[in-house]
Amino acid sequence: MPKRCFIITGTSKGMGEAIARGLLERGDAVYGIARSAAEPLSERMGYIHTNFDLLQTSQIESMLQTILEQIKPEEFEMVCLINNAAMLEPLKRVEDLRTEEMTANIHISLLAPMILTSVFIRETRGWKLRRKVIQISSGSGTAANPAMSVYSTAKAGLNMFTACAGTELMDEVEVIAVDPGMIDTPMQAIARNKDIENFAMAAHFKQAYQAGLLQTPDETARHIMRIIDARIESGRVLTYLES
Ligand SMILES: NC(=O)c1ccc[n+]([C@@H]2O[C@H](COP(=O)([O-])OP(=O)(O)OC[C@H]3O[C@@H](n4cnc5c(N)ncnc54)[C@H](OP(=O)(O)O)[C@@H]3O)[C@@H](O)[C@H]2O)c1
Repeated sequence: MPKRCFIITGTSKGMGEAIARGLLERGDAVYGIARSAAEPLSERMGYIHTNFDLLQTSQIESMLQTILEQIKPEEFEMVCLINNAAMLEPLKRVEDLRTEEMTANIHISLLAPMILTSVFIRETRGWKLRRKVIQISSGSGTAANPAMSVYSTAKAGLNMFTACAGTELMDEVEVIAVDPGMIDTPMQAIARNKDIENFAMAAHFKQAYQAGLLQTPDETARHIMRIIDARIESGRVLTYLES
């Protein structure tokens, strides 16, 4: 019988898929959320997938409620929400940004995790088990770079949302953010394969890849699993090297 239960966005690929796999291997239960199926996970015991587009802002609350209704809190010692899904693009200078693409990014990368966090804390109030929320942030949330304004703003917002939640929640629910470092995922491939003429940072991402500086998704997943286990003060934004 699994002892801990996780709700993770973005389990169809990249880091979310690796975190979910690592947790399932430990015997935990995982409710995954993504637009596409999580093929490598679907056959695994303890995995339940919800096909959902986080752009559907008005449906997020009922989607999470439906998942939470399936969880029997008395069967678990911990329930944890991991807001992992995010959108990297648009990677454009500020004057070239289009309204729809800015809206999509902020809805997926910032508004969706805010709504999920709020609903999770409210709906699990009274559950007698350890409750935790981990926001997957980024170094871009604190470092300004050209043509990354929308992604960076979303991650900076997520950091501040986490810090504010921390001032309210004390030990009631652990809410923390983690900058996971650079990981070799489909999102990284998008960044390094962009045309350097239009996205100068592609050179930096390419160089990091060629120099072997990227972590594998499994390495990062192991780090996130240590952060899950550790008791960390609510509101903290951890960098990759901290735990
Ligand atoms: N890779 C890095 O170097 C790096 C560095 C710092 C921070 N991060 C952060 O780490 C997290 C994971 O990144 P990653 O590199 O693993 O990204 P990825 O390879 O692009 O995977 C993103 C995941 O999010 C899901 N997703 C995207 N849009 C969605 C939507 N509208 N609705 C539902 N699910 C959606 C995707 O599933 P579907 O496409 O099936 O919907 C996919 O499972 C992100 O928060 C990212 O910002 C990554």
